[in-house]
Amino acid sequence: MSLAQHFTLTQFLIEERRRHPDATGDFNSLILNIAVACKRISRTVACGALGDMHGSAGGALNVQGEQQQNLDVLSNDVFLQVNEWGGNLAGMASEELEEPYQIPEVYPRGRYLLTFDPLDGSSNIDVNVSVGSIFSILRAPEGTDVVCEEDFLQPGTSQVAAGYAIYGPSTMLVLTIGEGVHGFTLDPMLGEFVLTHPDLRVPEETREFAINASNSRFWEVPVKRYVDECLAGAAGPRGKDFNMRWIASMVAEAHRILMRGGVFMYPRDTKDPGKPGRLRLLYEANPIAFIIEQAGGRASTGRQALLSVEPTGLHQRIGVVFGSKQEVERIERYHTEPFAGELENPLFNERGLFRLPA
Ligand code: F6P
Repeated sequence: MSLAQHFTLTQFLIEERRRHPDATGDFNSLILNIAVACKRISRTVACGALGDMHGSAGGALNVQGEQQQNLDVLSNDVFLQVNEWGGNLAGMASEELEEPYQIPEVYPRGRYLLTFDPLDGSSNIDVNVSVGSIFSILRAPEGTDVVCEEDFLQPGTSQVAAGYAIYGPSTMLVLTIGEGVHGFTLDPMLGEFVLTHPDLRVPEETREFAINASNSRFWEVPVKRYVDECLAGAAGPRGKDFNMRWIASMVAEAHRILMRGGVFMYPRDTKDPGKPGRLRLLYEANPIAFIIEQAGGRASTGRQALLSVEPTGLHQRIGVVFGSKQEVERIERYHTEPFAGELENPLFNERGLFRLPA
């Protein structure tokens, strides 16, 4: 094993700081605090039903109107408690909180903003399928004392760092600080994240796609066309067979795509006109998009690069397509070019699988 394979997250961050002699160390301590939060959540998740934390939070709904799980609430509290005291944050925003979180007056304030989804895919907890935490770090506007929603409305290109922890058969922390993507595996005996996957790259080509096909009747034509062509396999226009996957845990899908390629879609659809997509821009789509692009993949709304979207709301939803570059570019192309096959394609006609909405 090379020395790099024994590097802990702390050592990795110290090395990074040596390369940036003007860095104060604030950023490193923020990342290490986030890592502590993820370790604590990992421990609770790993206890499963033994931990008394399974189940829904007494019928409570979060700001999105979704059923909150006990572990959602606990993970949110862990993120807030571990990160509020460090002196490096001006404020936080969470999937579970309607308003930005103010740093309590007893603690010093810092230069960064943290947005997070404390437990993504939490509907999977009770069935013991991988879940994760997603985070994004932004710079706070100069002189920020009390944070407000507008402070967080920065495009994904402004992210200083982003990452996720995946709580699966092993716990991993995957991090970008804008210079590639690195994966750290939690050594449960050591209690440390150890660099096991330096310089992750998303393979450019793939034969695997992920989408919730139960929404197919609500999809827009470019998405229907793309999926239809994948399903047609070797005999269709793509000339090759594809696998389909759906875990319903975006962190787990993003991780699979980082490891072996693929494309993930939760596109804009017509299911609920009030919701232009399922996933949240600031603490789900943008951090994953930053990671995927730093690993050589691409992330898009279908219509524009995800990272270039100017946010309009803290909990804004957005259509998301990410993964292997060539596939995402193809899906973007399908959004701009007219599709001649739309009317005569049997999959889109009256009795077809992907009937167009009236
Ligand atoms: O909140 C986000 C999320 O749990 C993602 O992790 C996942 O990709 C998606 O929702 C699953 O959505 P659905 O239940 O529609 O398949």
